[in-house]
Amino acid sequence: MLPTGRRADIVVAGGIVRHVGAPVRADETIDCSRLTCLPGAVDMHVHMRGGVQAEKEDWRTGTMSAVAGGVTVVVDQPNTVPPITTPGLLRARVREAEEQAICGFAVNAGVLPDADLAGMRDAGAMAFGETFAAPSSYGEGLDAETLKELFARIHALGGLATVHAEEVIGPAPATLAEHDSARSGVGEARAVQAVSALAPAGIRLHFCHLSTAASVGAARGTVEATPHHLFLSHGMFDLDDTRARVNPPLRDEGTRRDLWSCWDTIDVVASDHAPHTVPEKAVPFEIAPSGIPGVETMVPLLMAAVRKKRITLASVIEKTSWRPAAILGIPRTGFEPGDRADFALYPDEITRIDASSLHAKCGWSPFEGLDAVFPEVVIVGGARAYACGDYLEAHPAWYPGQGYLSPKNK
Ligand code: DOR
Ligand code: ZN
Repeated sequence: MLPTGRRADIVVAGGIVRHVGAPVRADETIDCSRLTCLPGAVDMHVHMRGGVQAEKEDWRTGTMSAVAGGVTVVVDQPNTVPPITTPGLLRARVREAEEQAICGFAVNAGVLPDADLAGMRDAGAMAFGETFAAPSSYGEGLDAETLKELFARIHALGGLATVHAEEVIGPAPATLAEHDSARSGVGEARAVQAVSALAPAGIRLHFCHLSTAASVGAARGTVEATPHHLFLSHGMFDLDDTRARVNPPLRDEGTRRDLWSCWDTIDVVASDHAPHTVPEKAVPFEIAPSGIPGVETMVPLLMAAVRKKRITLASVIEKTSWRPAAILGIPRTGFEPGDRADFALYPDEITRIDASSLHAKCGWSPFEGLDAVFPEVVIVGGARAYACGDYLEAHPAWYPGQGYLSPKNK
């Protein structure tokens, strides 16, 4: 079944949709009866870790987790150790992904004063940032003057600037509520406003993980929201539960509900998949790293909301696949001849999230016990990548940014 409710056969060859309609003879067929076919999701905000942080996650486990959650392209953030600031580091990151990933991927360029932005654009960086307008785990906050200068450089390159906007005040927080106050929703909205004002006119600007309705309203650019800010509030956890510590912080229940009120103006839902291990989180709250895993549970949580008729299927497809692809310039996946053949097939039944059956290396989830609909079959690049818990064909396609100068075109 297509998202419109129409039943049709989808004919795929060479990774591309050729025909949607009446059955034709094929080398291989997949029985999709009782399943709804969605375009594969493009998660434009993940931290795949790897390198010296491979204990948290690597490209293999991170993309296995993505695929099992219906995500067929992940966009990796550059706050790796060391951060991606040169064409050489960007190329090495792409090579690491090509060797390990099982689905599509792209790599962003780090935005720091000494970064070779033009070099990384030429080397195939997808977007610039997340640019840290406030400090976060593995990210140094940049001051207004520096941001202004870096945005001007990104604009001159025709790039997309992606921003982590927050305001941080006071001493190290000891509880989730204190964390929410130290990086408040009001401060976030002010930071969004300030960044919007200092960015040059005409720049392509994207605000990562906005956590309040006021921030969404203040943004001049495209807006991203995360499943954790949509489905979790800090009152759902013990006050000092470090696993729920994330930047921007989980808000109170009223603020969380309010974020849903601007669902229609949110352009993109992305996971900000930022796994830390259980031992890394098992320290006093004040010194615990911020970040939570989420690439595998993002679309399943949204699909449960669709099945409960809280949001439309069309809005989920738009925010998880078509909008991010359009913002980034990645060819779209869908049901027209010529579309990229990445799909995920979802049953009707709602199940519950059980961290022990997820595939990220960290082995825990803040969404434990929440309602979800996981895909049964996932197609990547026209081939079956995943079916009922088994991984089949890997398809690690790299999507370079629009400024890429391939060696043969140089
Ligand atoms: O909570 C967060 N964790 N927010 C970020 O911006 C970075 C991320 C990380 O890389 O761990
Ligand atoms: Zn961020």
